[in-house]
This record gives sequence, structure tokens and C-alpha cells, in this order.
Amino acid sequence: MNLAIREIGSAEFGLIWPIFREVVAAGDTYIYSPDIAFEEARSTWLPPRARAFVAEADGNIVGHYMLKPNAPGLGDHVANAGYMVAPSARGQGIASRLCEHSIETARAAGFSAMQFNAVVRSNEVAVRLWQKHGFTIVGMVPKAFRHARLGPTDIYIMHRFV
Ligand SMILES: CC(C)(COP(=O)(O)OP(=O)(O)OC[C@H]1O[C@@H](n2cnc3c(N)ncnc32)[C@H](O)[C@@H]1OP(=O)(O)O)[C@@H](O)C(=O)NCCC(=O)NCCS
Repeated sequence: MNLAIREIGSAEFGLIWPIFREVVAAGDTYIYSPDIAFEEARSTWLPPRARAFVAEADGNIVGHYMLKPNAPGLGDHVANAGYMVAPSARGQGIASRLCEHSIETARAAGFSAMQFNAVVRSNEVAVRLWQKHGFTIVGMVPKAFRHARLGPTDIYIMHRFV
């Protein structure tokens, strides 16, 4: 697959909205309200210090990620990122490429580590994928996510140095 990853501005959130909306509507991987509106999604996913990147194949946006400081002030040397791939494009290594790209981008931006705050335990594809990319589970918050089908579900905090 000929995949190009490029940065977009927060005003271009509309480019990733179709994937964002579909992923969030499923209620099985991200904490955002499944019926979140465009503007709330844009401002929550892309707060002022966040950067957004899209993966394009043959002119179609097939995935995206955001990168931001995980915390303000004395915690802003640790990055946080979130990834989404269009359901029709999964299992082809796109998230893998996005993850590698985000780690390189975080390193270049001066971050020293990356932390995921809420990897849903039942999201086994994601947990395995992040582990493959060097992340370890450093904590588990019991029943912190109300999964659309499974009900209260544990979330993992995952971390790696970059
Ligand atoms: C998690 C997610 C980003 C993975 O995207 P992806 O592009 O399919 O991931 P990749 O193809 O890079 O890797 C998936 C791996 O799981 C494997 N896999 C197993 N079952 C799979 C399935 N049902 N679908 C996709 N991949 C599957 C793939 O073979 C691949 O393994 P490999 O790297 O050893 O070949 C994507 O499923 C998604 O957007 N999910 C909804 C949002 C989400 O969960 N984001 C992460 C939150 S922490």
C-alpha cells in the first residue's frame, strides 16, 4: 500500500471526522460520547497543543492520529497520542505505521516518553499492537470504561520511553 502520512491543522478536522465519528459511535474503544457532535469532538481531540496527522492511500484518508503533551507544566515532557484507522482499512499495518511515525515525531519534538491513558482492556488488537511497539502496561484502572456491549471494562495505562 502506498501510504503517505502528513500533518494537518486543527481547522481541517473535517478530514478525519468520518473515521472519528464511526470509531466513537461503536462505543468500544474511546471514552468520547458515541453521539459526540463535530465541534466538541474537534476541540476535545485537538486541544491547543495537539498536532494531527493523517494517513492517505490513493487520495483517501484511511487513518489518523493526534499527538500532544500528556499533561501541562512539569508533565509536558511526556507525550500522549491517539490513533484511529477506518474499519475498511484495518489489518494492513496502517496503525503500525502511524505508531512508528508518532514515536519519531514525539522524539523530534523533544518528548522523552509516551503514555496512553485509556487503552480498553478488551481492545486486544490495540493492546498487542502497542506492546509490539515497545509499550508496557504500567497500570490498570478497574471498570473505568462503560463498553457499549461488555459493560464496565478495565482500562490500561501504557507507557514507553521514546
Ligand atoms: C486499533 C487500530 C488502530 C489498529 O489499526 P490497524 O491498522 O488495523 O492495525 P495494524 O494493521 O497496524 O495492526 C493490527 C495487528 O493486529 C492483527 N489483527 C488481528 N486481528 C485483527 C483484526 N480483527 N483487525 C485488525 N487487525 C487484526 C493484525 O494482523 C496486526 O498484527 P501484526 O502487526 O502482527 O501483523 C484499529 O483497529 C482502530 O482504529 N480501532 C478503533 C480505535 C482504536 O481502538 N484505537 C486505539 C485505541 S488505544
